[in-house]
Amino acid sequence: MNRLTGKVTVITGGASGMGRTTAELFAAEGATVAVTDFNADLGAEVVAGIRAAGGTADFWRVDVSSEANVAAAYAEIIERFGTIDVLVNAAGIIGVDKPTHELSEAEWDSLFAVDVKGVFFSTKHALPPMIAQGSGSIINYSSIYGLTGNDEFTAYHAAKGAVATMTMQDAAVYGKYNIRVNSVHPSTVLTPLVEGIANAFPGGIDEYEKVNTRMQSIRRLGRPEDVAWACVYLASDESTWVTGVNLPIDGGFMAR
Ligand SMILES: NC(=O)c1ccc[n+]([C@@H]2O[C@H](COP(=O)([O-])OP(=O)(O)OC[C@H]3O[C@@H](n4cnc5c(N)ncnc54)[C@H](O)[C@@H]3O)[C@@H](O)[C@H]2O)c1
Repeated sequence: MNRLTGKVTVITGGASGMGRTTAELFAAEGATVAVTDFNADLGAEVVAGIRAAGGTADFWRVDVSSEANVAAAYAEIIERFGTIDVLVNAAGIIGVDKPTHELSEAEWDSLFAVDVKGVFFSTKHALPPMIAQGSGSIINYSSIYGLTGNDEFTAYHAAKGAVATMTMQDAAVYGKYNIRVNSVHPSTVLTPLVEGIANAFPGGIDEYEKVNTRMQSIRRLGRPEDVAWACVYLASDESTWVTGVNLPIDGGFMAR
């Protein structure tokens, strides 16, 4: 409790999955949460749940791939809550499962518009109040797929790799303003993003879990809170000397 008291936090993709759990945990730890997403119905549901539990939150409908959308929403959030202390870039899509020689330019561009440009726009418009106040924490949702190759989802790998590098680069550039930038790199976590894939897997979710966790030391699928608790740490004053880290949260996948 109270690990994030007073911290104004913007969470993109806060309506579902890990972004949603991150929003809920942050509010429970005392943060003021601006939930953003392009799914307004689910976003409103998350905010209602946070308020019912005694937390402070509001919702902004934002498409992270539109700079105009992001700029307008962040100006309103700063007006409403006074600043932005923490930004969590959780919005993301997985795109089509194709190798390089089959990918179209449109498929590549539509994935990069959300997973890479979305992080760029969101970070760009959250930075001014952080620079002005001389503090801030930015947490990017990348993936183990941003740290290593695999035989699926090529464009997603490349996009999440860009997010890993943006994390280190922004950490290098903005450290002089006491702004920290870190990324979390989950292995497979059962959220709406992967539920469809898991359900369609031959043998269903049980078989999907067996196959997908065979390279992990801890052989279970991740839970949203496994990753959201790391975000609490990275947003809090417990981690004021931690920046530029690409943190795997993956049941030990990257250690092998
Ligand atoms: N689930 C996994 O196994 C896994 C593993 C590694 C990394 N990740 C990453 O974690 C993050 C969260 O994933 P999740 O599994 O919770 O997904 P999810 O699909 O449950 O939630 C993603 C949210 O992002 C929102 N979103 C998508 N495009 C958007 C846009 N253009 N503008 C605003 N919001 C948009 C969606 O509406 C949704 O609410 C993503 O960046 C994802 O790539 C997921």
